[in-house]
Parts: sequence; structure tokens; C-alpha cells
Amino acid sequence: MNVDELNELRQVACDTAVSAGKLAREMWSQPRQISHKGFRDLVTDADIATQQCITDAVQARYPDHGFLTEEEDSQLSATGPIIWIIDPIDGTTNYSRQLPEFCVSVAACRPHPGGYEPLAAAIYDPMREELFSAAKGQGATLQIGGADPTPMQVSPITNTAQAVMAVDWSASAATRLNIMGLVNKLAQDSFTLRAIGTAALAMAWVAAGRVDGYLNLRLRPWDVAAALLLLQESGGTIVQPNGEPIVWDTAGMACVASNGRLTLNL
Ligand code: IPD
Ligand code: CA
Ligand code: CA
Repeated sequence: MNVDELNELRQVACDTAVSAGKLAREMWSQPRQISHKGFRDLVTDADIATQQCITDAVQARYPDHGFLTEEEDSQLSATGPIIWIIDPIDGTTNYSRQLPEFCVSVAACRPHPGGYEPLAAAIYDPMREELFSAAKGQGATLQIGGADPTPMQVSPITNTAQAVMAVDWSASAATRLNIMGLVNKLAQDSFTLRAIGTAALAMAWVAAGRVDGYLNLRLRPWDVAAALLLLQESGGTIVQPNGEPIVWDTAGMACVASNGRLTLNL
């Protein structure tokens, strides 16, 4: 794929993430229809509306592309030369309680046996009008409001004792127990530890150098795909807690995102 094609994918990722984010922001303060789709797993009418907003726009531009979306949609093809991996609202629990930490995550990925190679990505925080984006080999940028985009770099911190870390809980009780063990260690080893409630946005903040590392033991591809490219293009990484490469799995992925300079000994 040439640079023009990559940049076009990035533009579509940005445009769709921003349109969906604006819709989510408009709906944020209105009464929500909330339902439970699983144990400690919510979906709102805004998740459905924002996903539709993104998939309609992508389908209009790239009719042969496929989708891997958080919310079920039987109308969408799962196959194609490019798969759009979409989390229409990451941080749904925050969103449903009018906590203002949530984002839209959109990644255009090349599928390969066993996983995906993100080629272009956008994560948009509509409450702060912050657009994090990247294209493979083209770097990552942060655009705030109407200002020009500026290049993103992970933080230079190497000493865990100075690191601002973030973590999130997963739904399953067993996974929470495992996280407790790691939280216990991180809380003692790091400068401080935050639980933000939106994995994609927390990892975008790692890519922007605001946070030094982020831990989650049960993410899904739609939480990870866009953030992975942002991190790769800003000098960071996402690996498993044991340092091995991540394994793409819709059932759950253990992930540590970092500036790639910390030794966390998890
Ligand atoms: C969740 C959020 C949360 C993380 C969960 C995710 P959702 O995504 O990213 O921070 O702890 O693992 O499932 O359901 O809000 O899109
Ligand atoms: Ca999510
Ligand atoms: Ca979601």
C-alpha cells in the first residue's frame, strides 16, 4: 500500500471517529437506553448509533472492506482486504454514568493468519476534542480542537518509581483477582496508579507521553487495534505482561502498553 492510500485510510479513520464522537457528545447529557449484554457489560443506544455512523461512512467509501466491531451487526461483512476494527464508544460504563472519560476507536487493519496489522488509526476524545491518529510508517499526531496536529512521542521515563501508570478492571471475577496482584505490585513500585475506565484512551495517552504505562488483562481487538498503531508510531509498545507479543483474541487479550523503556517485572 502506498503513502497516499495509507493517508487516505487515516483520513477516513479520523473523519469517522470525529463524526461518531460528536454524535456521542450530543447524546451524552440526554437520557440513555441502557441494556446489559453480559456480566458487567453494558450497551447503550449511543453505542449502536455511533457504530452505525462509522460503518455507514466506511462502507460508502470502501464497499469491499470488512469489519470487526464491538456491537453486533449482521449486515456487516467480516471479510475483505482491509478490516475496520471499531469500538464506537470505549468507556461505555463511564459514558452511561456521564463520566466524561470515553473515546471512539477506529483502525483500518490488514488481516493476516492469527491477527491484524493496523495500517491507519484514530482515537477521538470528543469531550476534549482531542484526535490521536497514525498511519503505518508516517508517525502519530495529536490534534486538539482546531489547532494543527503535532507529532506524538511516548515519555522518556525509564525508572518505574517515577512512572505514572494506569490500569483497568475487567468484568470477570477471576481476572479481577489476578489484576489485584499486579495492582498491589504496581502501586508499590510506581509513582502512582490511575484507573481511567477507557482502555483505548488510556493507551492513546501512553502514546502521547501523558501516562507511562497501562495494564489490562482482558482487552478485545477493538480496544487494542488503534492504540497499537499509535504506540508503534510514537515509540511505544503493547506486549503481554510476560513480555511476549500480544495474541489477537476476541475472547480476551492480556496487554501492557508502555513507552517501551520501563522494566515493570510483572
Ligand atoms: C471497556 C473499557 C474498560 C476496560 C474494559 C473494556 P467498553 O470497553 O475499555 O476501560 O477495562 O476491559 O472492555 O466496554 O467500555 O467499550
Ligand atoms: Ca472497549
Ligand atoms: Ca465499547
